[in-house]
Amino acid sequence: MRIFASPFLHQNGGNIRATDNEITGKRQSKNTGFLLTGATGFLGIHLAEMLSQQGYTVIILARPRDNTAPEERIKALFDWLGTDGMPSCVQIVPGDLNRSDLGLSWNDYHRLAAGVDEIIHCASDTSFSERKRAQIEKANVENLHHLLDFAAKSRCCFFHFISTAYAAGKRRGICPEALVDTRSFFNVYEETKYRAEVTAAKRCSREGIRLNIYRPSIVYGNSWTGKTLRFNAMYYPVKILVFLKNLYHKKHREQDLENADKMGISFSADGTAHMPIRIEASPSGGINLIPVDFFTAAFSAIMETALDGGVFHITNDTIKSISDFIHYTQTYFHITGIQAVPAEDFPPDKQSSLEILFSRYTEVYRQYMQDERIFDNTRAAAILKQKGISCPDFNYRIFSRCMRYAEAVNWGNPS
Ligand SMILES: NC(=O)c1ccc[n+]([C@@H]2O[C@H](COP(=O)([O-])OP(=O)(O)OC[C@H]3O[C@@H](n4cnc5c(N)ncnc54)[C@H](OP(=O)(O)O)[C@@H]3O)[C@@H](O)[C@H]2O)c1
Repeated sequence: MRIFASPFLHQNGGNIRATDNEITGKRQSKNTGFLLTGATGFLGIHLAEMLSQQGYTVIILARPRDNTAPEERIKALFDWLGTDGMPSCVQIVPGDLNRSDLGLSWNDYHRLAAGVDEIIHCASDTSFSERKRAQIEKANVENLHHLLDFAAKSRCCFFHFISTAYAAGKRRGICPEALVDTRSFFNVYEETKYRAEVTAAKRCSREGIRLNIYRPSIVYGNSWTGKTLRFNAMYYPVKILVFLKNLYHKKHREQDLENADKMGISFSADGTAHMPIRIEASPSGGINLIPVDFFTAAFSAIMETALDGGVFHITNDTIKSISDFIHYTQTYFHITGIQAVPAEDFPPDKQSSLEILFSRYTEVYRQYMQDERIFDNTRAAAILKQKGISCPDFNYRIFSRCMRYAEAVNWGNPS
C-alpha cells in the first residue's frame, strides 16, 4: 500500500495563510465566514444548522431548482429541520459550481472572496451509475477545480472537504486515514471522490491552505427522531421490499393470486408476507452506518480540534451484519422468508424471479451490504473520545425510529 507523503501542511515551504492562533482566535470571536456548498442536500443542511447554532457566519452557495430560487430552497429546508425561520447569520449566494466563475459577476466573485475565511465543500453528485459518468466527473472533480480556484483567490485559509470512507476503493481489510495510492474502485462515485481528494490535497498544499478530509461511511437519519431527507442507501433495499410486499398484498386481496404465486409470495391471515429471497452476504462483511447527528457532531469536533489537516474517518466501529438488518426488516414490516447466504450458495442461474427482481432494484448497493473494508479511525476517534462523542450502535430501536419516519412521510414521495 503506497501512502502519499503527508500532503496537507507546510508543503509549500511552510507558507501557510494563517497561524493556529489566527484561526482559533477568529473562530472564538465568531468572526469566521464559512462558505458552504451542498447545503440543499442532506448532510449540507445539517452542517448549515450546526454552524449557525454556533454563531458563525454561514455563506451558502446554492443554485435554483425547478423554478425555486436558492433562498426559498434553503428556507424550506430550515423549516423542515424545525428551525424558527432562517437564522440571521445565514446568507445565500445564488451561484453555480458548474461554472468556472461560480455563476457570479466579477464584482460578486471578488466581494465573496473577500468575506470567506474557510470553505466547507459538501456538494457532490452521489449517484453510482456508470451511465452518468460524465455528469458525476463534472460535479465531483471539475467543479472542485472551480472552487479551489476561488479558494486560491480568496482569503480562505482552511478547506474542509466532505468525502466518503469509500474513496478507499477496492480494498479488503484495513483502510487507513490517509491518502493511499488507489487505482481500483467499485463505482464511479468512489473513483471521483478519491480523485477529488487528491486534487484538493495537491492544490491546497500549493496554496498554503489547510485541508481536512472528512470521510463518513453511510449516513442515515437522526438517531433520536429518525428524521432524514433522503431514502437512498440503507433505506432503499427496505423500501423495495415494502413496495413489493404492498404490491402483491393488493393483488392477493383482489384475488389476483396467480401473480403472487409465480413470484412465490404468500400471505398469512394476519397479513404477514412470506417472501423467499436469498441475499448474497459475506460472513465477515456488513454495513457501516452512522446517524446524521453523529456525523454533524463529529465534523464539528474534528474541525475545531484538527488544525494541522488530515484525513478523518467518521465511521461506526460496529458494522451491522446483513443478517441483523434482515431480522430488523422482517420484524418491523411483518415479512418472513428473507435470508442471507454466502455467494457460493447463490449461483446466478439458480435465482428465482423474485430474487432477480429484488437484485435488479438493489444492484448498486450490493457491495455496501456486505462490505469487508475496515476503516481505521484512530485519529478521528482520539478527538471524538476527548469530546465525549460516540457513534450509537444501529440497533432495532433506532431502525424502528427511522422506519416510522420513512412511513410517516411516505418514503419521501408526495402521496
Ligand atoms: N449521505 C451519505 O450517506 C454520505 C456518505 C458519505 C459521504 N457523503 C458525502 O457527503 C456529501 C453530501 O452528501 P448528501 O447525502 O448530503 O448528498 P445530497 O443530499 O444528494 O446533496 C448533494 C448536494 O450537492 C449538490 N450538487 C450535486 N451536484 C451538483 C452540481 N453539479 N453542482 C452544484 N451542486 C451540486 C446538490 O445541489 P442541488 O440540490 O442543487 O442539486 C446538493 O446540495 C457528499 O460529498 C457525499 O459524497 C454522503
